[in-house]
Amino acid sequence: MSTFTNENASASGQLLVIGLGLIGGSLARASRERGSFAQVIGVSRRASTLKLALENGVVDHAESDLTATLDLLKAGDVVVIAVPTLSVPATLAQLGEIMARGVSVTDVASVKGSVVAAATDLFGSMPDAFIPGHPIAGSERSGIEAVNPSLFVDHRVILTPCENTSPKHLDNVRRMWTAVGATVTEMPVDEHDEVLAATSHLPHVLAYALVDTLAKMEDNREIFRYAAGGFRDFTRIAGSDPLMWHDIALSNRKAILVMLDRLTDSLAKLRSAIDHKDSEYLLGVFTRAREARNHFAKMLECKSYLEATNMNHIDYQTSPAPAPLSGHIRVPGDKSISHRSMMLGSLAKGMTEVTGFLEGEDSLATLQAFRDMGVVIEGPSQGRVLIHGTGMHGLQPPPGPLYLGNSGTSMRLLAGLLAAQSFDTVLTGDASLSKRPMNRVALPLAEMGAVIETGDGGRPPLTIRGGQKLRGIVYRLPMASAQVKSALLLAGLYAEGTTAVTEPAPTRDHTERMLGGFGYRVDRQGDTVSLEGGSELTATNIDVPADISSAAFFMVAASIVPGSDITLEHVGINPTRIGVINILKLMGADITLKNPQNVGGEPVADVRVRSAPLAGITIPEDQVPLAIDEFPVLFVAAACARGTTILNGAEELRVKESDRIQAMADGLVSLGIKATAKSDGIIIEGGVISGGSVDSLGDHRIAMAFAVAGLRSQGEILIRDCSNVATSFPGFVSLASQTGFKIQELARQN
Ligand code: S3P
Repeated sequence: MSTFTNENASASGQLLVIGLGLIGGSLARASRERGSFAQVIGVSRRASTLKLALENGVVDHAESDLTATLDLLKAGDVVVIAVPTLSVPATLAQLGEIMARGVSVTDVASVKGSVVAAATDLFGSMPDAFIPGHPIAGSERSGIEAVNPSLFVDHRVILTPCENTSPKHLDNVRRMWTAVGATVTEMPVDEHDEVLAATSHLPHVLAYALVDTLAKMEDNREIFRYAAGGFRDFTRIAGSDPLMWHDIALSNRKAILVMLDRLTDSLAKLRSAIDHKDSEYLLGVFTRAREARNHFAKMLECKSYLEATNMNHIDYQTSPAPAPLSGHIRVPGDKSISHRSMMLGSLAKGMTEVTGFLEGEDSLATLQAFRDMGVVIEGPSQGRVLIHGTGMHGLQPPPGPLYLGNSGTSMRLLAGLLAAQSFDTVLTGDASLSKRPMNRVALPLAEMGAVIETGDGGRPPLTIRGGQKLRGIVYRLPMASAQVKSALLLAGLYAEGTTAVTEPAPTRDHTERMLGGFGYRVDRQGDTVSLEGGSELTATNIDVPADISSAAFFMVAASIVPGSDITLEHVGINPTRIGVINILKLMGADITLKNPQNVGGEPVADVRVRSAPLAGITIPEDQVPLAIDEFPVLFVAAACARGTTILNGAEELRVKESDRIQAMADGLVSLGIKATAKSDGIIIEGGVISGGSVDSLGDHRIAMAFAVAGLRSQGEILIRDCSNVATSFPGFVSLASQTGFKIQELARQN
């Protein structure tokens, strides 16, 4: 046995690393540098490796004979098997005695099923001291020369403990990894091998296969000379250790074969698409794949997707406006129209081009739902989206549940549209959406012959059974809801006969207008809108106007900050949406409309707002459905107005993204405003807004309304839970800052 020695470190316990390649060597050196063990011992069969390990400070002791070294170990020490995967069982076989003595053992092999099977074979059952592990770190370089003590910093280590694993040993191994900067997670053995087959083993097999294919070609020198960019990026991992990958391929055979078969199938389809010049298929694969990849990137960066799923919160801190607000701005595209453009564009025959599309989380959820149902959608890129419509019957079953985030419009309208498809669908949403009432669509759709199962109390998730034959109905809406009206009309496109919906008060009519734009006949008689099922939609181009609901925040802001003058460009002023302008004018606001025009069936204009003293009013009830989304910010206008503002007949506000009556009343009261919530409205006395802190309850419009209140407050306001602003108004803080708002975004980890 050859023994070499370095100086000792200070902590207690010993670490024995068997195999001093890249992983074993890096772990040994990192542990040594961080002083996490009193002594780090390395075992290797090669004298040259042992020599280098000592020279480079990788270990304190270097040994060539494993059996003799094992005698040095005591209970509480840790042994790491860092030999090639197929050699793990032979090494493990020598460690039974030390495990019985209380030494913890782990390994670093990339496949866990084969290691656990070998351990169970050797010892009759999994030893409680053996914790299978896998650091997700590496490099194309291998061997002791490549050792890197920072290799594990901010990398994951997956441990796959089994039923009889001892918590004490698990903790020992966990501490060893966290000491070198790794993040330790746990996973069942099978899941580990399946996940790794897909994310690591398959790409390596592919990279080796591609390089080998090209290397075997005649004239490959020419090919390799020109193989820059893509080839180099794609094949970087084919520079990894061949023996290691040989072992992995054989140890994780089953899971790798499943993935290889799937990929072979996809490749065959791609081959045929290229052969038959099937651009639709190719664009479908490429756009879906790009989106999926961006989606992974977003998840890893904790960007919007995670914000929408509430894993990462943003708070706003506002300061009073130091000066009047000013500017010419264009707020993002209309949310309602953006949703509908995706739905009708997907069902139309031909190519629909959408410009001004709202790239907010809500409308992106609708877009993604149609991608999941096989529609080829290019973009969005700066608001431009190209939809390759499939025709009325071209949607395909999605691979899983359609996740609709925070978006009630997506869920309710899709419920109607999907009720008539030939396949089943499941619709899910985030915490807020999961609390919202869905019977308002599920019940009338059932009358049409739809089969829809809801969760408890008529809430999401919705399971929609396909293959039903729908019949038109005559339906009187119990509440003024454009979503319910639209859901029934969309189902009516597929129903036999006429679907007629009567509304108690006019609600936004974008669905009817857009159906007309796609060449589908819709009739209106007084308060009833109707259509006949069975016709086709023909692709068209859609220019989405700026969203009046987003513009509303600036209308109130400019009104309440003295000396302000803001022009909002290209705002949709559909008569079913202009309640906010009507109400503000009744309160005394100075609002003028310029450049009125008609774009694709929707009226738009530039809206100029100058500050003016506001007075409290009793809001006319006929304006409620026309301003339904703008009340949070109208309440802020009321708080800044002289006198009392009274709202009645707005019980619908209680079932929006939050209970908007309660959320606003609570927030205003905590800022020193007298506000009394009623079951169907609110009474607000104008006054002085103090600084303080409020909770948006994850509701985008509550968050932005209080940001507007912050302009006139006496001190700073902390608004909690503002991430969902991205659902309707991406870029709100930066656009608001352009006009003179003072908002700081504070990131908060859950
Ligand atoms: C919408 C209708 C309204 C509105 C929502 C969008 C639509 O909901 O509040 O933000 O696009 O149809 P209700 O139909 O529930 O009133």
